[in-house]
Amino acid sequence: MKKLIISLTSIALISSARAADPDFVKDIAPILEASCVKCHHGEKAKGKLRIDTKEAAFKGGKNGKFIVAGKPDESALIKVLLLEPSDDDAMPPEGKGPRPDAEKIELLKKWVAAGAVWPDDAKLKVPEPKK
Ligand code: HEC
Repeated sequence: MKKLIISLTSIALISSARAADPDFVKDIAPILEASCVKCHHGEKAKGKLRIDTKEAAFKGGKNGKFIVAGKPDESALIKVLLLEPSDDDAMPPEGKGPRPDAEKIELLKKWVAAGAVWPDDAKLKVPEPKK
């Protein structure tokens, strides 16, 4: 009986640890798609920063790394979100789209801290240009 209780506890621990790590496709991509990707894709990406593919996102922009796996403090993705909305470098630029709320920023931070796992084939959906 004791063994059974121990193994049930460890299953619970393992599953709660899993639940705590955000999933790229389910948790992270929707935030980037809602707030960032419309300006940061393709040849004309703003700040020369493309984030629509894994390769591009990990390459970063003209001023450095967008994502540093394991290091939210060094990742521009997180830095620009922690700035005051009125700051020139805050993203999205003031008035230019929905800012992720505190809960979403927390998810992004956790995802970076947990190693920024981005499946190779996962691309962000790029919105159709307005006609
Ligand atoms: C409305 C368009 C727009 C949206 C939406 C937007 N950005 Fe930007 N972003 C810009 C522009 C313009 C620049 C270039 C600013 C400059 O060069 O001074 C930039 C630059 C950046 C940079 C600096 C790149 C570098 O290396 O210089 C980062 C990081 C960044 N954006 C992240 C984000 C994130 C994260 C989001 C979503 C939360 C986002 N952006 C949403 C327009 C946008």
